Amino acid sequence: MTTLNRPDFRGSAVPPPDVRVLDGVPPGAEEAVARLYWTAFARKFRPGLGDAEHGVPVLREALAADRLSCAIGPDGTVLGVLGHYRAGRGAIDLRYQTLLRHFSPWSAPWRALLLLPLHREARPGELLLDGIAVDPAARGRGLGTRLLAHAVELARQDGLRWVRLGVVDTNPRARALYERCGFVAERTQEVSPLGALYGFRSVTEMTLELSEQGEGT
Ligand SMILES: CC(C)(COP(=O)(O)OP(=O)(O)OC[C@H]1O[C@@H](n2cnc3c(N)ncnc32)[C@H](O)[C@@H]1OP(=O)(O)O)[C@@H](O)C(=O)NCCC(=O)NCCS
Repeated sequence: MTTLNRPDFRGSAVPPPDVRVLDGVPPGAEEAVARLYWTAFARKFRPGLGDAEHGVPVLREALAADRLSCAIGPDGTVLGVLGHYRAGRGAIDLRYQTLLRHFSPWSAPWRALLLLPLHREARPGELLLDGIAVDPAARGRGLGTRLLAHAVELARQDGLRWVRLGVVDTNPRARALYERCGFVAERTQEVSPLGALYGFRSVTEMTLELSEQGEGT
């Protein structure tokens, strides 16, 4: 469970104390995790994966449990997910073979091309996040803040110095959350002309530098 002695991470909302953050995906929760990702990031996945009926099963198969953490409610429901990159692969580890299993051999190549721009690479010394999503019904109660605190904990466990994430221009509320947690905008990259396809124009890289004392920056 994550606790951080940082005012920023306490945030304005206090998550219920009986919500736990666990690494991995609990057995049987794969569908729920895939749906959370889909609900949060459908705009990005749709060009390559189509609608939810086709996209959710692909995400489900692509889940990499060793790069995922889940916020679990008292009844065992997955209320939020946090993904990160490890060894060059993301929490949604979309492989060409997976696309071939779900789509025709004619559409798989262009689908792979459309998904390619979503891939990112971690730099040395940093934990690069691959999505944070909270069930719409559970938002605004501090779960996102708690998942970010967990990301800091993961980075510390791995001896890393930074946590990095990307936030799109159409998501100012998420950006406000990251700023409140101490993330600093590094640079903004325009993604046009592909941006229109994915529903955003630019991505801002935000970084949190961890101090050696175990507190924030
Ligand atoms: C961004 C997200 C993970 C935040 O989770 P959360 O549990 O609502 O976060 P918290 O309760 O800890 O903090 C809420 C803060 O997040 C921000 N926020 C972003 N989206 C929000 C939403 N839909 N509802 C409530 N708060 C939201 C607000 O700035 C809010 O701050 P405030 O309480 O001072 O108004 C969640 O809204 C979500 O899953 N959004 C869809 C997916 C997404 O955009 N992920 C981020 C991609 S970069």
